[in-house]
Amino acid sequence: MTLHLKMDDRDDRYRLDDMVQGLVGTPTDRPEGKLKVSGKASYAMDVLPDDVCHGVLVRATITHGKLRDLDTEAVRALPGIRTVITGKRMLRNPAQGMAGKAPVQGSDDIAYFGQPVALVVADTLEQARHGALALRLTLEAKGDAVVNPHDPDASVEMPKKEQVLIGDLDEAMKKAAFSVDQHYTTPGHSSAAMEPHASVAHWHGDSVTLRGSYQMLAYNKAELADALGISEKNVRILAPYVGGGFGAKLGISPEAVAAALASKELGVPVAVSMTRQQVFETTMRRSETNQRIRLAADENGLLTGIGHEALVSNLPGEDFSEPVTQATPFLYRGENREIVHKIARIHRTCAGSVRAPGEAVGLTVLEIAMDELAEKAGIDPVELRKKNIPDQDPTDQIPFSSHALAEALDEGARRFGWDKRNPKPRSTRDGEWFVGMGMASAVRVNMLIESKARVTLSADGRAMIETDMTDIGTGTYAILGQIAGEMLGLPMEDVETRLGDTEFPPASGSGGSFGAASNGTAVLLGCEEIRRQLCKKLNCEDADMTLKGGYAIVGNKRIALRDVLDGDTLVGEGHVQPGKAEKKVRQATYGSYFAEVGVNSVTGETRLRRMLGVFAAGRILNAKTARSQCLGGMTFGIGMALTEELIHDRRDGHMVNHDFAEYHLPVNADVPQIEVVLLEERDEWANPLQAKGIGELGICGAAGSIVNAIYNACGVRVRQLPATLDKVI
Ligand code: MOS
Repeated sequence: MTLHLKMDDRDDRYRLDDMVQGLVGTPTDRPEGKLKVSGKASYAMDVLPDDVCHGVLVRATITHGKLRDLDTEAVRALPGIRTVITGKRMLRNPAQGMAGKAPVQGSDDIAYFGQPVALVVADTLEQARHGALALRLTLEAKGDAVVNPHDPDASVEMPKKEQVLIGDLDEAMKKAAFSVDQHYTTPGHSSAAMEPHASVAHWHGDSVTLRGSYQMLAYNKAELADALGISEKNVRILAPYVGGGFGAKLGISPEAVAAALASKELGVPVAVSMTRQQVFETTMRRSETNQRIRLAADENGLLTGIGHEALVSNLPGEDFSEPVTQATPFLYRGENREIVHKIARIHRTCAGSVRAPGEAVGLTVLEIAMDELAEKAGIDPVELRKKNIPDQDPTDQIPFSSHALAEALDEGARRFGWDKRNPKPRSTRDGEWFVGMGMASAVRVNMLIESKARVTLSADGRAMIETDMTDIGTGTYAILGQIAGEMLGLPMEDVETRLGDTEFPPASGSGGSFGAASNGTAVLLGCEEIRRQLCKKLNCEDADMTLKGGYAIVGNKRIALRDVLDGDTLVGEGHVQPGKAEKKVRQATYGSYFAEVGVNSVTGETRLRRMLGVFAAGRILNAKTARSQCLGGMTFGIGMALTEELIHDRRDGHMVNHDFAEYHLPVNADVPQIEVVLLEERDEWANPLQAKGIGELGICGAAGSIVNAIYNACGVRVRQLPATLDKVI
């Protein structure tokens, strides 16, 4: 039996707080943790069939134009080469995951430098690589490729639904007692997942199985079927372990379709793993952004107007554009509002979702501008934010579901020792270092995505969860087990969680911070259905039944679950869908960041000294994995503030720093002790778990606190991220 739930209203059907098992929320270890640290968890390329062939992608060396010909004859004559795949079904850039389709793109039209145009397949990886290097392409370049978003020849689109115009911002700016009007830029970012994109394809008759590294299997199945021109019924995808995604694996990437095409032709399994450079250049990038922020405030520091204009870029025809202004309509008060979103069509690697698309870069910039306003108005930055928290969504005029920004700001300030900050820049020295403190708000929209899961309670009293959900390092295995354990009164070791197989009920997948809450709700509903069946057997109401430690307790009777089941196996499916709730209330997660930096007075080098994040995201499902997500987000915030920057060649748009030697992620030496505080909260509008997404919250705005700390330290306001020493000195 399936229990369906459409979130049309608030829902507190299960008072998880009253449950006695006490599993949900605890810092439970990952059940698969030992497998991972001992190298036994098998990632995409870890289990290859004996007869596997290897494919290596060959890529275009022009920016825009046509593939006229490839000299496959010469390559086929090389040792070990089995085939060369090219043609209209090859993907040139990744699908977008949520769309459910990967439009057939073809290898003939070149849209960016480094686009894959062919796959060379051989008995060994070395032979395939040799063949790929030897393949001669005849390419015809169009001379007019626009590769820079500011090129006057770039066509610029303004999607109507992204623009907001309320009141008269120009007038508000004129009348303002204090105002800020500044331009900021953030560079492109790479998702930088540790495991490269990889797929191993294998056909059995008309059906293909792909084992690989993907975030959203139900969508990826639809994308693959669409790209191959076959029915979804004939596609199975397996991804039991995924070595990080960060957005770049929301959709399938070129290697998946190429591997499937090659395997079909050869009748043997084909494995294709991207090199690090290929991951950079042929999966996706976060768009660079150019942003203008206008803030108007009255003499008390109350915002009367907010302007947020953003220019981002993507390939011609792509749906996605970095949603920079996503949180600007509802974060702060202000009756005059102008939000402008523009997309420049340019020929660079496809832009897509990277680590909290939108707020990660948009809020960071807004929070730098807020710091500028605080200084102009002579108001403490924490106070300025608190003053401007609206009572309801000021744009859509709907209430907030739950909202803990004020608490997060207070708690952070208290714990960090914010009262010791000298508001005057350049006033604290430690040897040759200027020392300063900065802060920023955190906000991330909350989403619910349709999700299903099946729970089986077998006659021996053990439970099994099955869903095509992924665990991309986020802790899915742990939290789903905790939810089922709580609901069915079982210890963690009596719950088995099976993920990453499209034969299981389709889940939300992992992305957009929606995975745990969406799929966790499906598991909750599946367990609720099993509880109904148990109540029937026990002839009692759910409210009168306590499940604990493998026993059912009804009144003064305590019966082992095995005896209640009496040889039966119970199955419950849960199915949750978004409904009207998301229109009735504004749902988001909130938090705050506090950072202390040292800026070297000789070199201009910035060293983060300590950092604190306080986050409220509804019920915390697992205190350990939630904290880890926030630590990761803040670490990427350090990268965004200080080191990360994709550089594109001005002439042909190619990505210059396409590896971890040249694209600088923060390493251990860049990351001091980071403290994460989770504020407990309940959000009944989000889902019956009352949990909101936390995965991406920890990066949204994080870089702003560091850039603001740099200003407090040395008096230099950096508006072009990252704040490398050349910009600070
Ligand atoms: Mo995410 S950047 O939606 O995986």
